[in-house]
Amino acid sequence: MKKMPKYRFQYLGYDITKLKLIGEGHEGKVYMLPEDKVLKVFHNPDSCKRQLEVLLAAKNSRFFPTVFDFDSYSIVMSFVYGSRLSFYLKQHNINKSLSIELVKLVEEFKKLGFAKLDARLGHIFLQPDDTIKVIDPRGTYDKITPYPRSMLKGLQKHGDLRAFFDYIKRDYPEYYNSWRKMMSKNS
Ligand SMILES: Nc1ncnc2c1ncn2[C@@H]1O[C@H](COP(=O)(O)OP(=O)(O)O)[C@@H](O)[C@H]1O
Ligand SMILES: [Mg+2]
Repeated sequence: MKKMPKYRFQYLGYDITKLKLIGEGHEGKVYMLPEDKVLKVFHNPDSCKRQLEVLLAAKNSRFFPTVFDFDSYSIVMSFVYGSRLSFYLKQHNINKSLSIELVKLVEEFKKLGFAKLDARLGHIFLQPDDTIKVIDPRGTYDKITPYPRSMLKGLQKHGDLRAFFDYIKRDYPEYYNSWRKMMSKNS
């Protein structure tokens, strides 16, 4: 596919030189818009298409931002409030409500038919109302990841894995058993 010229600055009617840049990753840049929305501009239309596919498949899910508009290089979606878990867990210990939210997130991935049942803590946001949302879903349909390996690794790194397992043990004994087994095998 043909690449857009480097000097493009209009996306979906927005002039990105006039917007506040709020984030940047490998695949693109994210700008703040009015009304609790953001504009994500991708470097590459293929990654835009792939992300869009996931966000649209998850459009009825409370765990994902809402898509309002898109073209081949960019997506307007809802702004996700709150603190990314990779940051939050530096200052707080995990609690029961967050642990259960994380399991529900993985169950949602399963329900949506994703191959990858995983997200990293840097892409999971704890919102002011104690629910979570994920941004930047990637590799969703590519590689079979049957348990949330990077999520659990992240919890381990923050010293919260044992507490997480304790919190989910009663409500989700099956995940408790299988994920603990996977983590002891692959650590
Ligand atoms: N919907 C959103 N709401 C709030 N912040 C966002 C949103 N999407 C992205 N961001 C911010 O922009 C950063 C980069 O976005 P991300 O989607 O991870 O880009 P990349 O695909 O390039 O990794 C994120 O780490 C986050 O800080
Ligand atoms: Mg990212």
